[in-house]
Amino acid sequence: MKTSKIEELISLAKKACSNAYAPYSKFNVGAALLTKNGKIFTGSNIENASYGATVCAERVAIFKAVSEGEREFESIAIYTNADKLSFPCGICRQVMIEFSKDLIIILSNEKEKKIYTLKEILPYPFTNEDL
Ligand code: THU
Repeated sequence: MKTSKIEELISLAKKACSNAYAPYSKFNVGAALLTKNGKIFTGSNIENASYGATVCAERVAIFKAVSEGEREFESIAIYTNADKLSFPCGICRQVMIEFSKDLIIILSNEKEKKIYTLKEILPYPFTNEDL
């Protein structure tokens, strides 16, 4: 992936992070998802007083894209307002593998960035091939 594209995704994820609705955890997350045909969808985490109704930033971005007809994704940048880089939760990893077996995951915060593959962070996945 080109460095400029990585930087663009991080910057969009950071912007989405500023729209996080996280009054309970105060843990703000933004995501920017790049489709294989070059479109970008963003998302932020949206919490709820009924905590279980909360949705992660990654799934907001993925569901926005899928509901707009996109199903093939190249990479996702995730930006948090925390000091330590944080990985996507297990539910988001499962949603990611549904659509992109070779997704690239860019983790970022104010201080650093690291790049992983979904295969690395979700070994032995359960997929449509198991059904
Ligand atoms: N969160 C995300 O948005 N993405 C993740 O992968 C991990 C957790 C959100 C959900 C909740 O609003 C807050 O972070 C704390 O769990």
